[in-house]
This record gives sequence, structure tokens and C-alpha cells, in this order.
Amino acid sequence: MKKIKIADGIHMLSMNVEDMLFEGIWEIANGVTLNSYIVQGEKTAIIDGVIGWDGIPETLYKNLEEINVHPKDIDYLIVNHMEPDHSGWISNFEKIKDDFTIVCTEKAAKLVTSFYGKDKIQVVKEGDTLDLGNGKVLSFHPVPNVHWPDTMYSYEHSTKTLFSCDMYGAFGKMGDHHFDDEMTPEEEEFFEKEGIRYYSNVMTTFTPMLRKAIEKSKEFEINTIAPGHGPLYRGNPEKIMNDYTRFSNYAEGAGKNEITILWGSMYGMTGKAIAFAEEILKREGVKYNKLEMPLESESEMVATVFKSAGIIIAAPTYEYKLFPPVAAALDEIGRKKITGKAAFRFGSYGWSGGAEKELAEILERNRMKWDMVPSVEFEGSPKAGDFEKIEAGILELIGKMKDKIVE
Ligand code: FEO
Repeated sequence: MKKIKIADGIHMLSMNVEDMLFEGIWEIANGVTLNSYIVQGEKTAIIDGVIGWDGIPETLYKNLEEINVHPKDIDYLIVNHMEPDHSGWISNFEKIKDDFTIVCTEKAAKLVTSFYGKDKIQVVKEGDTLDLGNGKVLSFHPVPNVHWPDTMYSYEHSTKTLFSCDMYGAFGKMGDHHFDDEMTPEEEEFFEKEGIRYYSNVMTTFTPMLRKAIEKSKEFEINTIAPGHGPLYRGNPEKIMNDYTRFSNYAEGAGKNEITILWGSMYGMTGKAIAFAEEILKREGVKYNKLEMPLESESEMVATVFKSAGIIIAAPTYEYKLFPPVAAALDEIGRKKITGKAAFRFGSYGWSGGAEKELAEILERNRMKWDMVPSVEFEGSPKAGDFEKIEAGILELIGKMKDKIVE
């Protein structure tokens, strides 16, 4: 666990976590940080505690000691959001001190009691404040569905620090640099990618509410944005707000100037057409990503489709339906409400078709509103005429993408 001073009287305790499935689903290749904040006035508050998954590590005591905080001096636990990556420490913390007050929204209070059996709760509403003394005043600002209904921002007035919890978070472990103004260009690129992975995996379903939360954050005078995951933003807090606005647009069809080929092939017939498609994309100078299902991780698949302005679905018919791993991937994309992408499908069939019907059902069921180029289906191996149609389809897709590109 690391201990970083972020302003007078405010420290971050941050822990890198890996080898876990985030939310029990997402295989996060580059780990994640869990950030916790200690705010010291005459009284002390801890915001979104981080004490590991299975107990209280001694390093926590050591870190608290080094900033002159004894766990018994912590008066308030501010729970910005009840998801256990932020609140799971409560039951451990109460082993060393049980007379603390939990500060949270009314919606969170219900879960605080049902998850942890705690009832010493101070419920806060929009604009309520908590004066910790010595000039440290926190105020609280609900931002529902970021990404649970209970979530709120906390804001410390004297240092102009916005504790944004999941909002403005990113996956990816942090090394020695924790603030945006310390990052190397490589680290900036890393956290842009991990921010997209985080937004697309965890947040994108709630994009309309996230947009409201972005607008709310613009109402504060901000020196530092201090999220629950990933880097802190003090050099240019507006950049992460703009990045999140861009990500919200990716959720509704915009994307980078790249195409993702979401593909599966049983015996290489569709595979021949994919090799041809790659040649066309190279010729046209279009960057592309290939995701072979089911070999790709769910996390990478969702993130890569999410950020792309164009999608090629390359998959055959299997048992009268769309090749199942690709169908499952598209269904997941639909459940995430990733809408409006420009897309084109091709694929082979043997005894009969059926893939196209299921693709239409998936798009309709999930109300995806994808802008589809007419599909190309071929019996067995693709022939010269099929290649011509595939080339035309790809060129039409590239045309459709043009007004969706946002870098
Ligand atoms: Fe970082 Fe919604 O938990």
C-alpha cells in the first residue's frame, strides 16, 4: 500500500490489485488500483477505505501512523459508494473501532445495514456539509447510477478536492507516478487505454447518468480530482472530464478511426474472407484490431469494440444460428448498451443459413441501432464474386464510419 500526500491534511492510500476478476467478471490484464483518502481536520475522516480483500494488513497501520493517524482517531467513514471494492473494509475496520459514524446517501444507508449490520449512519443529501475542524469542510453531492444508485461525490472546500469515487476512474496499476502532471507520454497512453477499458466494462450501461455526473463535476472549482481507481488529476482536471465525455460518445456509436474485426471460424472458410478483408483494410490505410472469439477475454472484447468507429462481424452459421462465441460477444455488447456502431458482417454457411437471422434478433433485442452494411454470406469457401462483395461492403463501412470518428 502506498501513501501519497495530495494536499495539506489530505493523503491517499493506494493499493495495486491484480489476479482478480473485477466484479467477478472482468479479467483485467493490467490490474487496478484501489484508492482511499484520509482527510484530517480536528476530526478525521476516511473516504472509501481500502484494506484489502481479506483482513487488515499491518501496512495500513504503518501508513496511518506515518501521517499521525491512529485508526481509533478516525471518526467518520465516508462511503461514496457501497460496492464492496470501496466498502468491503467496514467489517474489518470495526474490529479495531466500533464507534464511528458512516456518512452516505439514503440509498447507500439501506445497504450499509444489510451488508454490514451497521446503523450509526449519517444520511446526507445534496449540499450537506461535514465540518471536520481546522478548516476542513466536506460537502456531499449524489450522482446516482455512477454506477450504483447510491453513489455520491465528496468535495473538500479548502483544498478544492473532488473525491469522485468510480467517476473518472481507470483500470491499470500505478507505478511511481500518481498524478496526471507526473505521467510520461507512455503512462498517459496506458491510462487512456485502461480508462476506456474501465468505462466500457463497468460504466457504459449508465452513460446517460454519467453525463449528468460530468455536468455536476463542472459546477465545482477543482484543484484535484481524486478518483477511487487510477490516477489523480491536478495538472488539467478538465482533460479527464473531456475524456469521459468522449467515452460517453463511444457508447453511442462514435469511436476512434479504427475497425475491429470480431470473428470466429470453424474450419477456416470465413477465415479466408478475413485474410482478404485485412488486405483491403491495409490497402485503404485503416487501422484494425482482430478479436478471435472465444479466445479473447471479455474485458478486452468489450473495450475494443466500444472504442472502434467500425465493426466487422466475421462469423459463419453454426447449427442454424450465428457462430455462438460471436453471438455471445454481441449479446454482451448489447447488454452494455453500446449502440449506433457502423458494422458489416460476412460469413460462410454449409447446409443452410441462419446466422443472419440471429444477428438481427440480437441487434433488435438489445435495441442496438447499429448502422449495418448489407451482409455477405457465401456457401463454403468464398469465391471471386464473394470477395468482390466483401470489398464493396468494407468500402461502404469505411464510408459510414467517417462521421463517427472522435479521437
Ligand atoms: Fe469501484 Fe462501483 O466500484
